[in-house]
Amino acid sequence: MIKSRIAGVGHYVPENVYTNDDLAKLMDTSDEWIKERTGIKERRFATKHKETTTTLGYEASKVALERAGITAEDVDFIIFATLSPDYYFPGCGVLLQRALGITKSEIGALDVRTQCTGFIYALSVADQFIKSGMYKNILVVGAEMHSSGLEFATRGRGVSVIFGDGAGAVVLQPSEGDNGIENSELHSDGTNAEVLSLSSPGSHGGFHSDDKDQFGFPPEDELGEIFITDKMVKDGHLYPHMDGKVVFKKAVVKFPEVIVSSLAKIGKTPADLSLLIPHQANLRISQFVQKILKLDDSQVFNNIQKYGNTTAASIPIALSEAWEQGKVKPNDLICLAAFGSGFTWGSVVLTW
Ligand code: ACO
Repeated sequence: MIKSRIAGVGHYVPENVYTNDDLAKLMDTSDEWIKERTGIKERRFATKHKETTTTLGYEASKVALERAGITAEDVDFIIFATLSPDYYFPGCGVLLQRALGITKSEIGALDVRTQCTGFIYALSVADQFIKSGMYKNILVVGAEMHSSGLEFATRGRGVSVIFGDGAGAVVLQPSEGDNGIENSELHSDGTNAEVLSLSSPGSHGGFHSDDKDQFGFPPEDELGEIFITDKMVKDGHLYPHMDGKVVFKKAVVKFPEVIVSSLAKIGKTPADLSLLIPHQANLRISQFVQKILKLDDSQVFNNIQKYGNTTAASIPIALSEAWEQGKVKPNDLICLAAFGSGFTWGSVVLTW
């Protein structure tokens, strides 16, 4: 069967660096608190009205296309993963298509909404299209502009200190040899969907309650608003909500599980890995996973210290940086793995 391979990878991060001390000027937090719990030292924030999620994705895509030796006109499908799109609709896929000037060929553009696992889902979908012979050059992008939707005040500090802006992209093509994507695994469990979520505005209106039915609805007297109201803004319901401890506990179980099981499918174990590139959720989660899998420092790539958690962008940014640093070489066995909101989790194992 045809395998697909990453023919080019690129990333882009905004110029503006915000250190933990910079955030401490906006809210009651400290460099020590953030570094100790997350490993993050600084992050990048995009320039308002000059950059958007799509422009970040566009910059990363240009690098990936150039490294793959193709032009935008050669792209025959776009998959764009983000949780912080330019618009509620239409999605960033078509905006990127327009920005790249791909207008004549009217190619398809698909948006993926699986948050931190977005790039893994996107890559896995692209892999199926290449394997089936349907497409030859798929542009897969993960991009986020979190800074447009975080609460930079003490009330939002549990979330806002974690996230950063950036984008990464790859070009996926049919492999000419045996190397390429070996397998992918995708999982989800909606039981705790609201634990890491942004519920408003939305069609639901009942999220802020512990007493829920199978659709997440609370008793009638606890129902909230579905359209934007002053109260919704005042109560902070337009900002992301996270129960960090619940996320942490699930992540440290599901990350190792999905890495071990996808490696086992090709008769490998974590010891065989040249490099694990985990979603940069939190340095403590990556270190926990590294310890459980008994990997040494050279087998795990982390750059969350510089960029914070860039959600769907974190894996392609890390892959691009690792490649630039010569840490991803021909024939290396690489595992990309993610866990995040939904909950969703997954992995892609590939031979470079
Ligand atoms: N600065 C200072 N104090 C803070 C901050 C902050 N930025 N944020 C919260 N606090 C305070 C809280 O108000 C609380 O104070 P209190 O005890 O007076 O009530 C105290 O610190 C402890 O808060 P917790 O939320 O219990 O802090 P915890 O030790 O759990 O650490 C953290 C929070 C870092 C989010 C942790 O739960 C964690 O690592 N969770 C994993 C989730 C994660 O990393 N998510 C990333 C995004 S999801 C993903 O990508 C998979």
